[in-house]
Amino acid sequence: MTVPTTPPPAAGASRGASGRVGPAATPPPAEPGDVLLSVEGLDVDLAGRTGGRVRVLEDVSFEVPRGRVVGIVGESGSGKTMLLRALMDILPDGATRDWRRVVLDGRNITSAASRERLPAAMVFQDPMTSFNPLVRIGAHLVEVAQRFQRVGRRQATALAREALVAVRIPDPDRVLSRYPHELSGGMRQRAMIAMALLARPELLLADEPTTALDATIQAQILALLRTLQAERSLTVLIVTHDLAVVAAVCDDVLVMKDGRIVESGDVDRVFREPRHPYTKELLDAAPTEPSPEEADA
Ligand SMILES: Nc1ncnc2c1ncn2[C@@H]1O[C@H](COP(=O)(O)OP(=O)(O)OP(=O)(O)O)[C@@H](O)[C@H]1O
Ligand SMILES: [Mg+2]
Repeated sequence: MTVPTTPPPAAGASRGASGRVGPAATPPPAEPGDVLLSVEGLDVDLAGRTGGRVRVLEDVSFEVPRGRVVGIVGESGSGKTMLLRALMDILPDGATRDWRRVVLDGRNITSAASRERLPAAMVFQDPMTSFNPLVRIGAHLVEVAQRFQRVGRRQATALAREALVAVRIPDPDRVLSRYPHELSGGMRQRAMIAMALLARPELLLADEPTTALDATIQAQILALLRTLQAERSLTVLIVTHDLAVVAAVCDDVLVMKDGRIVESGDVDRVFREPRHPYTKELLDAAPTEPSPEEADA
């Protein structure tokens, strides 16, 4: 694994021609038609709170080309989180998932055994949901490195340290020895991203990874995700409420409503000429002030 040592780009300091946050030198585009994830006909039912079943995802189909950063937007309750959880096989108890066909990184996983190791990892809005408060950051990271990279303890510790360097944590040795609550929110989020990287994902799923953070820290974490995407040729699916985030960070967008995808496509196209009335509504309702990155640009 190569260890990036360059500092994170300042938000807004390194925009490509598209105006998005990211390193100036982007790697060559993936082969056309190189689809990392293809989902066809995904339904998810949950146990309703008052008995019965509730369909929360209905006939969801989409494709994610390798190397793209895809934003998922839509009102609260539209199924964004359940979509990511369905992909990671971490739906709530009692949920049922059904899909016609799913291919991830060339592997048909339509009927993959539950808990099979997939080249995907997820980061959550609240890092405390990923960390046991009684366990030091180092032990969390070492455990993931050992499990996913099948290495001994010594090498796992080195990999854990490298992962913290990769997410631009300036003092990795100190952070390894800290408990989760001893870190700032931004540092904790970086440590969670480091933990996700140790699973060697091709696909990184992020559910509102910056919503709980201050605006400046938010911009730094988003810039980090974009940088990691480019450095590691990751493909990223990111759920957000913030259309400014989509405009600044994402290549493509999926718009969800009532458990369905109502519109999808290139961000510039969807924002310029939305086709679905709900997308128009979302765009009309969005605040017009520039995002922190845009304000600094
Ligand atoms: N544990 C659960 N049990 C039953 N229903 C649930 C559970 N969690 C979520 N739901 C329901 O599933 C639907 C989809 O929820 P989901 O969390 O995916 O929405 P979301 O788009 O992520 O919303 P938000 O933007 O508020 O995070 C909603 O109707 C929600 O009420
Ligand atoms: Mg959610």
